[in-house]
Amino acid sequence: MWGKIKHWVEVRLGLEELINRHLRSYKTPKGANFLNTLGFVALIAFIVQVITGIMLLLYYLPHPDHAFQSVQTITNDIPYGWLFRLIHNIGSNIIIGVIIIHLIHVFLRVSYKRPREVTWISGCIMFFLVLLTSITGQLLPWHQTGFWQTTVTSTIPAFLPVIGEGISSYMRGGEFVTGITLSRYFSFHVVILPVIISVLIGLHVLLIRRQGISTSPSLEPESSKTSSTEFKRENHPEGRPCFPHFSLKRLFMVMIYFAIVFFILTFMPNLFLPPETNIPANPLMTPESIRPAWYFLAPYQLIKIIPNDIMGISLVVIFSAILLLWPFFDAKEGERNILKRPILLSAALIALTLWGIFTVWGMY
Ligand code: HEM
Repeated sequence: MWGKIKHWVEVRLGLEELINRHLRSYKTPKGANFLNTLGFVALIAFIVQVITGIMLLLYYLPHPDHAFQSVQTITNDIPYGWLFRLIHNIGSNIIIGVIIIHLIHVFLRVSYKRPREVTWISGCIMFFLVLLTSITGQLLPWHQTGFWQTTVTSTIPAFLPVIGEGISSYMRGGEFVTGITLSRYFSFHVVILPVIISVLIGLHVLLIRRQGISTSPSLEPESSKTSSTEFKRENHPEGRPCFPHFSLKRLFMVMIYFAIVFFILTFMPNLFLPPETNIPANPLMTPESIRPAWYFLAPYQLIKIIPNDIMGISLVVIFSAILLLWPFFDAKEGERNILKRPILLSAALIALTLWGIFTVWGMY
């Protein structure tokens, strides 16, 4: 009976054929480890955000008079509403952590070199868009923290010469944060940004399938270090089939992601919900301190310590542009093993240390 059902499904959907073509005969490089699965974990984390976001949308009302109350109702009255809200809230922080570690790993493997420049750029744009999605999401519950964080973040672009004022006033839909800002942020958060990110994920994954995952730099044969200008897919005949070996590694890392989310949810449910998130937004009452989310602390602190605002924000824009276009700054063919490139390794370590110091500094 079971065999017949399987055959019926197979003739119509060809699942076995799909698994064979895309997983069993798709070889992952020798030495592919748990860190190579982080892009996949980011993909799952994104899907979790979409699903929990849709669940919240069933009861959320994007209006200044109702938004706060609707989120309170979701949390306190709707069955399992608290669960979806907390997974969405905690997941929005964990996904950024996962993307940052994926970015650092790809950087340290020097995987951004030809022909993967566009893969890097599409990833970087997704990173910026995920950050924007988080900025726009903060305002939706219409609590004190979100309202005042938005007031601050929407002021920052105004310091940019020429276009700054326009960007700020477009973000707010006027001079102040109002119901228009809420509508605007709502449409960006639930439709515009997720759709663009989904298209970019499609492009990112398609490119990776076309190029093949890069060989570990320490195992790369001498001959491929000076590769030709033609495109050559990186096949790994000596590697292991993606299914089941690498797929199990992916599954394990996805479990770790869920374990972290549920650990925070169980033991520190308010980790990303400070007390002011229980107070409705009040434009007449500024909280004692307005601090951005942890992933914005470093640029925020940099802007704060530089007395000239234009210079502060311009530096953040320049650093972001360097990150985006990094493959073109390090475009020369040659050594990919970062341990044999002391200047690149030192620059990366200095940048990471400074980012850590500025984050901790911003926290206090
Ligand atoms: C939502 C964000 C992202 C998603 C869903 C995603 C997804 C993926 C997936 C599924 C892979 C295949 C290997 C793996 O599982 O690790 C991958 C590889 C890659 N990603 Fe991402 N990624 C994201 C963000 C980024 C960022 C921010 C960058 C860099 C700026 C980046 C650059 C790359 C590169 C260059 C590769 C190829 C690595 C190699 O061949 O060794 N990605 N990504």
